[in-house]
Amino acid sequence: MAANLSAVAYLISGVLFIMALRGLSSPETARRGNYFGIAGMVIAIVTTILNPHVLGFDLIILGLGIGAVIGTVIALRIQMTAMPQLVAAFHSLVGLAAVLVASAALYAPESYGIGIAGQIKMASLVEMSLGAAVGAITFSGSIVAFAKLQGLVKGDPLVFPGQHWLNLLIGIVIVAIGVVFVLNETIPLFWLLVALSFLIGFLIILPIGGADMPVVVSMLNSYSGWAAAGIGFTLENTALIITGALVGSSGAILSYIMCRAMNRSFISVILGGFGGEAAAAVSGGRSDKSVRAGSADDAAFIMKNAGSVIIVPGYGLAVAQAQHVVREMADKLKEEGVTVRFAVHPVAGRMPGHMNVLLAEANVPYDEVFELDEINSDFSTTDVAFVIGANDVTNPAAKTDPQSPIYGMPILDVENSITVLFVKRSLSPGYAGVDNEVFYRDNTMMLFGDAKEMVEGVIRAL
Ligand code: TAP
Repeated sequence: MAANLSAVAYLISGVLFIMALRGLSSPETARRGNYFGIAGMVIAIVTTILNPHVLGFDLIILGLGIGAVIGTVIALRIQMTAMPQLVAAFHSLVGLAAVLVASAALYAPESYGIGIAGQIKMASLVEMSLGAAVGAITFSGSIVAFAKLQGLVKGDPLVFPGQHWLNLLIGIVIVAIGVVFVLNETIPLFWLLVALSFLIGFLIILPIGGADMPVVVSMLNSYSGWAAAGIGFTLENTALIITGALVGSSGAILSYIMCRAMNRSFISVILGGFGGEAAAAVSGGRSDKSVRAGSADDAAFIMKNAGSVIIVPGYGLAVAQAQHVVREMADKLKEEGVTVRFAVHPVAGRMPGHMNVLLAEANVPYDEVFELDEINSDFSTTDVAFVIGANDVTNPAAKTDPQSPIYGMPILDVENSITVLFVKRSLSPGYAGVDNEVFYRDNTMMLFGDAKEMVEGVIRAL
């Protein structure tokens, strides 16, 4: 009876998780999606705690308490701009949990109902080794991703000759050890498997350059899901299997979508080595070319007299927290009879949907926000492209320079509009470290300064 009830409860939480993902697929429904997710998680936790096999609550309450305190403090303190590395750090914990659960099951199989020590069921040994290997790769890979995103390790790709062959060799050895472990249940082999998986996690992520990090974080997200599903099989917990599979598949889909947005093949991302060469070549913009710089007053004058303006937000908007003033500026321009729209590039900012979240927070109407495909052809018939804190996502080198690390990434064609206004603090390159030739074009006016202060100036002038 209790087993049936918990199966139904887990099923309900699984459905709620699916509804959460559905809700999170659009900014309009994202808040509702979050509520579904919270409800699903509460049901899953309560059902697990009420399981009659639970012998004591002390450790569970202690764990929940520690987790809740750490989670709440981090959630309240975290800067929006540090979100990608936080996600990477959390993934590492999921990976570590998978390794710990698998090892606990190996040492105390009776508690998991999977046999006795030395005679664990073969299926459980397979789940255990898969969960531990994927978990260990997720753990060490996420730590490298965290260190790179946090700036503790240089973002450049770290490549050495024969790297891929070494990875392949370690991969084959891991599989071979896994097979022997499943056949013989040799405990030292389990730990060798875990150690080599930790090592390959480092080796896979180290060569991946900064510009590919978003794909990596989402890929590790997917791995952490599969690792959780692996633990779910070991623990015979359907909620964990469903949730792990949902995280695993949605992370994989997101990685695929991001690869498409950056026009990179998934394999070439995983094989690494992208995004560092140009960063080394360019540091602070080209000094041999001149740019036209303007003021907030100039920008206000140009936009007030324009028929149409497209605002292109990027990472700098998030840094300056300029979303509210940008909306205010858009409202003022609309009062002047200017058509104002927002163009959002799929990898603008530092995480998927970053710009959509900020614009939604500032109550920019959804029907004024357009995706790259929807709006890109309109720049040629637009008076002003107002680029605020964006850089790489407007860089034509992605179309013209096969040597560029961003070559192949679709970009917003801002240079086709009559005037381009670029709000940023200097001529420094963006995330990928590549100089942007649009700065030096005749139809570009640079508005040097902090995004929020500059827009406040434009609003005053308007
Ligand atoms: P970036 O190319 O990184 O350019 C952002 C620009 O904002 C910088 O050039 C910087 O110039 C400026 N900036 C920084 N702080 C500012 C401030 N307070 N006020 C005004 N400007 C400021 O950003 P993007 O165009 O959004 O492109 C995103 C890049 O990040 C892509 O290369 C993408 O691949 C990568 N990436 C994306 C993600 C996801 S999933 N979205 C995750 C990780 C990485 P100054 O220093 O001169 O001010």
